Formats: sequence, C-alpha cells, structure tokens
Amino acid sequence: MTNAAGPSSLTFRDVTSADETVVKKLLEAAFPSDMEARLVHKLRHCGALVLEQVAVDGEGQILGHVAYSRVTPAAIGRAQGLQVACLAPVAVWPDRQRTGIGSALIRASLEKLKAMGEDLVLVLGHPAYYPRFGFDPVLARKVQGPYAGDAFMALALTDAGTRDLPIEVAFATPFEEFE
Ligand SMILES: CC(C)(COP(=O)(O)OP(=O)(O)OC[C@H]1O[C@@H](n2cnc3c(N)ncnc32)[C@H](O)[C@@H]1OP(=O)(O)O)[C@@H](O)C(=O)NCCC(=O)NCCS
Repeated sequence: MTNAAGPSSLTFRDVTSADETVVKKLLEAAFPSDMEARLVHKLRHCGALVLEQVAVDGEGQILGHVAYSRVTPAAIGRAQGLQVACLAPVAVWPDRQRTGIGSALIRASLEKLKAMGEDLVLVLGHPAYYPRFGFDPVLARKVQGPYAGDAFMALALTDAGTRDLPIEVAFATPFEEFE
C-alpha cells in the first residue's frame, strides 16, 4: 500500500473479476471475521449485486470497496416498480481509514446508482456515519422488513423513492445468516 494518495487522487470504478482476490483481503482486514468477505462472494455469485465499486489511488491500488445488492419489494401496490438496493458492506484498509476514502467512495457510488435509475437505497449501519450521505432512519420506518431501529436508514434517489412508500422488502438470500 502506498501512503501517497489522499482523497483528491482517488478514482472510482466498477469491480472486475481481476479485483476479487484483493477485495477479499481488504474485507478480511477491515472486519473482525471473514463473514463480510463471504457475504460479498455469495452476493456476487448468486447474481444479487446491483453495483460493486472500488476506490483506487493514482497507482491503481485498491483502497476501498462498496457493494450494493438487490432488495425485492413485495409484489403489491405501487411500490412494486421501485428499484431498491442495499448498501453492504463498505470497507477501507485499516491503515487508511478516517482519511475520507470511505465517504468519497459512498458518494461516488450513490451518484452511479442514481444514474442507473435506482429509487431507494437502504443501509443497516452506524447512525452517526450514514446521515451525512442523506440516509434517514425516519424514512426507513416506511420500509418493513427484517431490520428496524435507528441503525436502519433509507435514502431516496428519486421522487418515487419517497412517494411510493410504505413498502415491504426482502433482502438477498445471503443476508439471512446475518439476521
Ligand atoms: C466505515 C468505513 C468504511 C468508513 O470509511 P473511512 O474512509 O474510514 O471514513 P471517512 O474517512 O470517509 O469518514 C470518517 C468518518 O467516519 C467515521 N467512522 C469511521 N468508521 C466508523 C464506524 N465503524 N462507525 C462509525 N463511524 C465511523 C469517523 O468517525 C469519521 O467521522 P467524523 O467525520 O465525524 O470524524 C471504514 O472506517 C471501515 O472500513 N471500517 C471497518 C469496516 C466497517 O465497519 N464498515 C462499515 C460497516 S459495513
């Protein structure tokens, strides 16, 4: 790892199959166990990932990773047509955390999700971190599913993402072992 890159020299791109080994190591380094690395592997190979991106420094080194998986609205009512994604996990190498990489990656990937036509993004995460990107626990109260409470937050990327609620959702199958 180089220490030269600050957030200003970062770029963001989709993950390729050539990145998978480094991403696995990054997830294993950032989290206490290999659960998140296994989660991403399963989401990837069951076709549940909507978007998977990395933050890369000027030398091409991967510094951060984020994954978004498909969330399925219950097939009733107007929420049926909503495109809903779940942010999880996001990770930065431990020696590079708290230097703005995670925030820059989340912002860039949310822009891409918006351009892709996603309506609503859900996250189960730290209530002090995600509101800076617009995630809101109050909006998430209109999303019924396995998660609730202040750590469960939602961000609407389109008008429909706010308007066509409440909604009942199911997360991708690999999340079941985390519930
Ligand atoms: C969470 C994570 C992706 C954030 O990326 P980052 O590049 O370190 O964060 P940034 O530099 O962009 O932002 C720093 C802010 O994040 C906060 N932050 C970092 N990790 C945090 C955590 N685990 N819980 C709460 N807040 C956290 C810092 O307090 C700081 O807040 P401040 O700006 O108010 O001081 C990174 O710290 C990480 O990989 N952590 C371990 C894995 C993890 O817990 N992922 C999230 C759950 S999926």
